[in-house]
Amino acid sequence: MSRIDAGAISDFAEATAVELKFEGRKLVLVKLGDDVYVLDDRCSHEDFPLSLGEVDASTCEIECERHGAMFSLKDGAPTSLPATRPVATYDVEIRDGRVWVELP
Ligand code: FES
Repeated sequence: MSRIDAGAISDFAEATAVELKFEGRKLVLVKLGDDVYVLDDRCSHEDFPLSLGEVDASTCEIECERHGAMFSLKDGAPTSLPATRPVATYDVEIRDGRVWVELP
């Protein structure tokens, strides 16, 4: 397990998907208000970056740009087809204005 400093929370735009790369992993980070969500940056339908998709702040979801599947930012569960499998999510802690991500 490793703990990654993803940056200052003030550096992330609201409801905007941001691509992060750590230790060979590709992640997508989304800030919604005081909450920050981090998921694998890979749609479970096909290998396509979720960081290219749009965020729906009202439902706390991200849309895959390729075929339109939606995923919950909270738990990575697919909420619309064509995706049927979840995307991995990671624990996040905001401390002293910085975003820390727990990677297994
Ligand atoms: S690759 Fe994401 S919905 Fe098809």
